[in-house]
Amino acid sequence: MANNQVLIIGAYGQLGLGLQERFPDAKAVDRDTFDMTDRALVQSYDWSGIETIINAAAYTNVDEAETEEGRIAAWQANAVGVGNLAAIATSIGATLIHFSSDYVFDGKTSPHTETEPMSPLGVYGQSKAAGDIAVSTVAKHYLIRTSWVIGKGKNFVRTMLGLAEKGVSPTVVSDQTGRPTFVGQLVDAVGHLIETKAEFGTYNVSNEGPVVSWADLAREIFKIGGFKDIQVTDISTQDYNASKPLVAPRPLHSELDLKKIASTGLKLRDWTDDLSRYLEPEKSTN
Ligand SMILES: NC(=O)c1ccc[n+]([C@@H]2O[C@H](COP(=O)([O-])OP(=O)(O)OC[C@H]3O[C@@H](n4cnc5c(N)ncnc54)[C@H](OP(=O)(O)O)[C@@H]3O)[C@@H](O)[C@H]2O)c1
Repeated sequence: MANNQVLIIGAYGQLGLGLQERFPDAKAVDRDTFDMTDRALVQSYDWSGIETIINAAAYTNVDEAETEEGRIAAWQANAVGVGNLAAIATSIGATLIHFSSDYVFDGKTSPHTETEPMSPLGVYGQSKAAGDIAVSTVAKHYLIRTSWVIGKGKNFVRTMLGLAEKGVSPTVVSDQTGRPTFVGQLVDAVGHLIETKAEFGTYNVSNEGPVVSWADLAREIFKIGGFKDIQVTDISTQDYNASKPLVAPRPLHSELDLKKIASTGLKLRDWTDDLSRYLEPEKSTN
């Protein structure tokens, strides 16, 4: 096998699909053939030629993570599984690229820098924080913290479009703020870090552009998507949570400070431009 191989783990998720497009020659696996929580499987995998491990796999169901079963599953994938990858990356001398979240912070204030101490509120954020610590032990690592990921799959934009197509005007949380990250932007950042041989460490990556609430993002989706009759009603996190049987605590302020990644020479795109491109097929049918 050739050296310089890239292995993408979690290849069927939103980010994994984008990584496969960006790195078409990479080996790509997901849970069906490569369960990263299985230490023996991770250790005995054929690692020959693999110099870069990109881990897009994670347990991402933030609310379910608060249940008895979800808590175990979240810790298995986001902490134990990532620990297994950190151990193998160290033993074979590979670079480990891993993704983390604004949910490792309590979000009392923002923007969040790469050096802010972690302060996760819920089980998902706590399990991601444990994974971050494991990744930081690997000599060659890029730990990429991101927020509000939008790609192919289940995400906020898709949920809003689904409602609009049924003619439903949604009530949306208006006091959680941040910036979306389109998968194209995220995978461009990964390529940039690898190609420029940027210094190893932690990097925040989201799109650039205005910091908005989920309610404002929904309004922008309906405006750009051409859904003129759909209205968004604001609701506070407190009132929204009171109306739901199971909801995880979430950070109110998710804006990531983007100076470090910008200082490597990467020009980040405004999320409104990426949103327009994402909605192209919708615009032509509305
Ligand atoms: N989505 C967001 O808004 C967001 C925000 C901030 C950060 N992030 C981070 O960004 C990264 C990518 O998120 P995403 O939205 O692309 O996630 P996603 O769509 O939920 O995909 C995760 C993938 O990981 C796989 N997986 C789960 N457990 C696994 C295991 N034990 N072994 C191997 N594969 C496993 C899943 O398979 P199954 O479908 O079979 O479970 C799925 O294919 C994650 O690290 C996430 O924490 C996401």
